[in-house]
Amino acid sequence: MAENKPHAKEYFVGSDLSERYFKYRPKLPLEHVKTIVGRLGRRPEFWLDVGCGPGTSTQQIVGHADRILGVDVSQTQVDVANKTLKQESLSFVQGSCEKLPAKDCSVDVVTVVQAVHYFDLPAFFEEVDRVLKPGGILGLVSFSIGPSCVDSPTMKQAADCITDLFIQSVLPEQAKLLSESYKNMELPYPDRRDDQVSMVTSWSLQDYLEVCMTFSQVNNKIRALGLSVEEGYDHVTQMLREGGMTEEDMKSVYTWSQPAVLVSASKPKV
Ligand SMILES: C[S@@+](CC[C@H](N)C(=O)[O-])C[C@H]1O[C@@H](n2cnc3c(N)ncnc32)[C@H](O)[C@@H]1O
Repeated sequence: MAENKPHAKEYFVGSDLSERYFKYRPKLPLEHVKTIVGRLGRRPEFWLDVGCGPGTSTQQIVGHADRILGVDVSQTQVDVANKTLKQESLSFVQGSCEKLPAKDCSVDVVTVVQAVHYFDLPAFFEEVDRVLKPGGILGLVSFSIGPSCVDSPTMKQAADCITDLFIQSVLPEQAKLLSESYKNMELPYPDRRDDQVSMVTSWSLQDYLEVCMTFSQVNNKIRALGLSVEEGYDHVTQMLREGGMTEEDMKSVYTWSQPAVLVSASKPKV
C-alpha cells in the first residue's frame, strides 16, 4: 500500500523523532570501528558515514579518523546531528547515497550502519567505488534491535502489541536484508569478511517502546493513522495498561545481548 511506502527521505521528518532516535537507538559498536581501521592498516584521513541518521553511528568514529563526514538524505536527521554533536573532526550534510559529497578517490572508509537496506544498491556501490581510494574499506553494519531473545512475557506482550498495531507482520524486502545481516548481499569487491560482536542492551519496557517509535515501519503507520509520535506512544502504553501491564512492569529493566554484524570489503589497489 502506498501509505506504507513513503520515500526514505520522509521517514525521519519531525525533529521530536530524530531527537528520540538519537537518545534511544543503539550505537555502532566500537569494536567494529577498530576492525575497519585494522583492515585499512593505517589511520583514516577521511571517513564517510552514509545514512548517518542523527549521528548515532557517526559519533562512535570520533578519535579514529582525521575527518568524519556524516551524510543523510533527511534534513531533520542532519539538523539534529549538527546541533547535538560538535567536534572539530566531525560534520554532517544532507545528501544521498546515490551522489556522495566527496571527490573521486578521496575517502579511506565508507560505512553504513543500519541503513544500506534502504539504498539503491547498484547506484550506491558505483558511488562508493568512485569516492574510495584504492585499498579503502566499505563497511556495512547491522544488528537486530528487538528483545526477541528475552524470556519475559511482559516484553513479548509489548512486542506483539507493537506488531499488531503498527506492523501487521508484513516485513518489507528491505527489512529481510537487514534481518539476515546482509549475508545474501553481493558486495562490489571480492574480499568480503563478516565480523560479529556481541551487543549488550539494558532496557525497560518503557525504553523499548520509545525505541519502537523510531522504527520507520512503526513511524510510517503512526503517521498514516494521523497520530504524532507522542500520541502513538501513548496509544501503545494505554493498550498495554488495559491489557494488565502495571507501572512496575513498565519500569523493570531487562539485559540481553545480541550480535552486531560488520560486513566489509576493500577496493582493490590496482
Ligand atoms: C535506520 S537509520 C540509521 C541511522 C544511523 N546510521 C544509526 O546507526 O542509527 C537509516 C537512515 O538512512 C537514511 N537514508 C535512507 N535512504 C537514504 C539515502 N538514499 N541516502 C542517504 N541516507 C538515506 C534515513 O534518512 C535514516 O536516517
